[in-house]
Amino acid sequence: MGIRQIVYCSQASLDFNHLRLIALLNCARENNRRNEITGILLHAPGRFVQCIEGESEAISQLYQQIGQDDRHRDLCVLQDLILPRRFFASWSMGCGEISRSQYLELETAKWEQLVAVRHGDQWISPGFVLMQAIWARLQSRPQIPLAS
Ligand SMILES: Cc1cc2nc3c(=O)[nH]c(=O)nc-3n(C[C@H](O)[C@H](O)[C@H](O)COP(=O)(O)O)c2cc1C
Repeated sequence: MGIRQIVYCSQASLDFNHLRLIALLNCARENNRRNEITGILLHAPGRFVQCIEGESEAISQLYQQIGQDDRHRDLCVLQDLILPRRFFASWSMGCGEISRSQYLELETAKWEQLVAVRHGDQWISPGFVLMQAIWARLQSRPQIPLAS
C-alpha cells in the first residue's frame, strides 16, 4: 500500500519554550506509537516544520487534528507523497531546534517532485534532502528533546 508522508510548516501561536515543547512531544509520541506514526518536528523561534509518515488514513486523521490545534496556525503543506518506505522509522517524533534562517531555507526550498534527485530506492525533492541534512546534523549534536 505504501506509506503516506506529509511535510508541512506552520507558525506558532504561542511562545514555545522548552517545557511547552516537551509537553507537546510527550503527548504526540504516545499517540504516534499507538497509531504507528513516525516523523520529526523541527522547531525554530515561532515556527514549525514537521514530517509525519504512516498508514494513509492515520496520516489524514492526524493532519486534520494537527490543523485544528490552536497552538499554531497558517499550516502550509510542502510535500504530500506515497512512498515505498519510511524515512524516520525509528522516531515516534524526533525533535530538534533550528534557527530562523534554517527554517526559511526549508520553507523556500524546492519541494516539487519534478526536481527530485535519486536517493537509494526512491526520488526525493531538494527540500527533503535539506530536511534530512539538517536532521543528520542535529543528531550529531543531540539536544534534550531529540530523544524519540
Ligand atoms: C506543531 C504540532 C505538532 C503536533 N504533532 C503531533 C503528532 O505528531 N502526533 C499527535 O498525536 N499530536 C500532535 N500534535 C498535537 C495534536 O494537534 C493534538 O493536540 C493531539 O493529537 C491530541 O491528542 P489527545 O487527543 O491525546 O489529547 C501536534 C501539535 C502541534 C501544534
